[in-house]
Amino acid sequence: MKHKLATPSASDTPVVSFSGVWKRYGVIVAARDLNFSVQPGEFLSLLGPSGCGKTTSLRMMAGFDQPSEGEVYLEGERVNGVPAYRRPVNMVFQHYALFPHLDISDNIAYGLRQRSPRPSGEYIEKRIAEILQLVRLEGFEQRRIWELSGGQQQRVALARALINQPKVLLLDEPLAALDRKLRREMQIELQNLQRNVGITFVLVTHDQEEALSMSDRVCIMRDGEIVQIGSPLDLYDRPKNKYVADFVGKSNFFEGHVKQVNASYIDVQLDCGVTISTVPSVEMDQHHAGSRVSVSVRPEQLILARDEKQLPEDCVIKLKARVLNRIFLGEHTEYLLRDESLGEFLALSPRQNEVSESPFETSEIVHVAWGREASLVLGDD
Ligand SMILES: Nc1ncnc2c1ncn2[C@@H]1O[C@H](COP(=O)(O)OP(=O)(O)OP(=O)(O)O)[C@@H](O)[C@H]1O
Ligand SMILES: [Mg+2]
Repeated sequence: MKHKLATPSASDTPVVSFSGVWKRYGVIVAARDLNFSVQPGEFLSLLGPSGCGKTTSLRMMAGFDQPSEGEVYLEGERVNGVPAYRRPVNMVFQHYALFPHLDISDNIAYGLRQRSPRPSGEYIEKRIAEILQLVRLEGFEQRRIWELSGGQQQRVALARALINQPKVLLLDEPLAALDRKLRREMQIELQNLQRNVGITFVLVTHDQEEALSMSDRVCIMRDGEIVQIGSPLDLYDRPKNKYVADFVGKSNFFEGHVKQVNASYIDVQLDCGVTISTVPSVEMDQHHAGSRVSVSVRPEQLILARDEKQLPEDCVIKLKARVLNRIFLGEHTEYLLRDESLGEFLALSPRQNEVSESPFETSEIVHVAWGREASLVLGDD
């Protein structure tokens, strides 16, 4: 059964919008000129290492903190100075902050009972039943918080926020306390829940897999700044710089400098002396002969073969490398390889290539190649 607690507004007005937002704590700059919008019904993740300003950004959306400079808008209305309890948002904290002395239904109904005028008892009961069904906790009404597992407590925290029908649900590392398996289950549940209720979600995480698998768009942060914001695919295929490429998935990086900028590709001379043809991940005109760059090659884009003749004709590089290590990952095998010039790098080989051929052995010499589209040239910033 599909519940519709809130309908995304038909207009294109962003639900949340930051314009030139800064947050300073004395000399610490926690947020630096943040400019971004969240669209109705969108699932946005803020991703970045510890201390990069994720929670600070969320708290400014919620109204627990005010910007030192710049504007925060909710549904087109400037909300600077508006306290948290008067904003149409709800926040779920990492440590759920549930009331231990109340049972599950009283925890969930807490927000509704605080409203003025207070809704009828009948209405509250009906809403509790709907929400418990939504988070799959029917029959748990009378339980106490300490009688629940971590995942169940997480669901109560979500239910308590959702019952207020917020325009935006802010989630600060909501799954961090859960073990890996439960975490994966809750990620899927949270994603389904978001689709069913249509509420805009902003999720804070430092787990890249979590951000990439759940979100419509991911906002990558560093030192209080937004480095890049885009769909998971965008970030993976067209990272703006080395920081993003490194943060989103695994990559091999080879350092070098631009030798020549051509019409649609760039020749890079790697520090090991090898020159390869690459494509730029950002606009061509940002690259100039002589500038320092990194060339990123995703492990799955390397082609491995026992026989050189099996390599495609149009490769930008062909080399022989020794297998240093091999890890079976089910569908794929990951190889750590070493080439005299390039040094060590990773390759990910799909299983079907190994059906006709046996997997490569440790210390075996293999032929390696990749195409121009596989080698992305990245600036350091
Ligand atoms: N109340 C405060 N007073 C002073 N400094 C603060 C305060 N809150 C946050 N900071 C600082 O601002 C920066 C950003 O903190 P924030 O909590 O937003 O990081 P985060 O990205 O959420 O990190 P984490 O992943 O560890 O939760 C950090 O350097 C932090 O020490
Ligand atoms: Mg935080």
